[in-house]
Amino acid sequence: MAKKIIVIDEGTTSTRTMLFAADGTPLGSAQREIRQHYPGPGLVEHDAAEIWEATLACTREMIARAGGAEQIAAIGITNQRETVVFWDRQTGQPLARAIVWQDRRTAADCAALKDAGHEEAVQAKSGLLLDPYFSGSKIGWALKNWPQLTEAGERLAVGTIESYLVYRLTGGAHVTDASNASRTSLMDIEGNGGWDDELCDLLGVPMALLPEITGCTTTVGTTDPALFGGAIPISGMAGDQQAATVGQACLAPGQTKATFGTGAFILSASGTTRPTSANRLLATVLVQEDDVRSYALEGSVFVAGSLIKWLRDGLGLLASAGESEGLARSVADNGGVYLVPALAGLGAPHWRPDALAALSGLSFASSKAHVARAALEAQAYQAHDLKSAFAADGVDWAEVRIDGGMAANDWMAQDLSDMLGLTVERPDFVESTALGAAMLAATGAGLYPDLASAAAAMRGTATRFTPAIDAAKRKTRLAGWQSALAKVLVS
Ligand code: G3P
Repeated sequence: MAKKIIVIDEGTTSTRTMLFAADGTPLGSAQREIRQHYPGPGLVEHDAAEIWEATLACTREMIARAGGAEQIAAIGITNQRETVVFWDRQTGQPLARAIVWQDRRTAADCAALKDAGHEEAVQAKSGLLLDPYFSGSKIGWALKNWPQLTEAGERLAVGTIESYLVYRLTGGAHVTDASNASRTSLMDIEGNGGWDDELCDLLGVPMALLPEITGCTTTVGTTDPALFGGAIPISGMAGDQQAATVGQACLAPGQTKATFGTGAFILSASGTTRPTSANRLLATVLVQEDDVRSYALEGSVFVAGSLIKWLRDGLGLLASAGESEGLARSVADNGGVYLVPALAGLGAPHWRPDALAALSGLSFASSKAHVARAALEAQAYQAHDLKSAFAADGVDWAEVRIDGGMAANDWMAQDLSDMLGLTVERPDFVESTALGAAMLAATGAGLYPDLASAAAAMRGTATRFTPAIDAAKRKTRLAGWQSALAKVLVS
């Protein structure tokens, strides 16, 4: 019986396909970088056709590695969330560039809606705030500004990345899962699990353009046999941060994970009762198994790994991302240097799309090692600010499970434990996002009776970091960060 699982992990900067055994053992991966288009300040776009071609190539490679389509029990898909794709239902081809989650073009529209007093109602229904991050305002903007979309009439389909990939993989199924749908600002996350007409009206999105919302372990279709030499069921789907939460087996209320990818996203599972934040955090669907929806409280930080990438590619300060760890260790402390990484505005808990990054505390004694250290330290400071917001919402973290490419950095993992004052646990296989999607697909394919059993069986071993910093040093550092942050917030 076919027992292997294919996972398509469509991140912000790369597309990757991974092959897993049914017990969660990773068996291989293929990856392609995705070109980032920055047509202007605050604008970030992707070419969905490029994403599709890269997905196809990587998936073909992994299916060949598995020994053919008949070896694959199911495909799971996980993706950068909130990014929206506009395509032609007849050809499957994109009609415009995809607008990426980091894009701030609707900042003024969101501010106007906020000024008009709509934020409370939006938060009550969608769990989200009025910010350009979420998909709804991006779709409304595109329909107003890109005439080819309205000219396409009934041929126009809209969806987030997983929705587009399923459309292409199946040859026409137009679906999304509840976790991705909950990031659009168009879903009433507590109601009947569908799109909400008032939210759609407010953001100027005709509901007919949107996909059908399904569960995260629902078999939404099978792949077109022409693509991979067989019809493979697609039976697991979730946004990447929800998938990582599953991959870290954070399913019981209060269990918390932090993923350090392009951004840093911290989610605490809430169980089947929808959380409500009074501290600028988000309520989001964690997972929907059959018709049972569970939720999470989320703190979204927009810049994490992308900061290191920018130091490397934008400033040429690092030869490789890995160099940051050695540089951070090479100096005794940060030398008073702080980096507030508001390169795409600030997300939770500030929600300031207009904020700009700042490097402060520089003197002739400052070296690039201090800057690299400040960049890594910023991850712990941002996580610390979220810890306070979660606690104010009644969610005290007992420990935090970390993952994502940047979590492999031992110095950063220890610093996080030091600044949070908590045990930080890191699985030895840090790609929890892909593993979580494999758990969802394995459950959907019937390899496990439910998600909790899949998570228990498939999550591997982990390393623990415990706080080791002197209390006075911790206090001084946090005070230094708060004053650097305050300057960014007032400007
Ligand atoms: O909400 C945005 C998030 O899904 C992006 O994830 O993995 O590209 O940092 P990542």
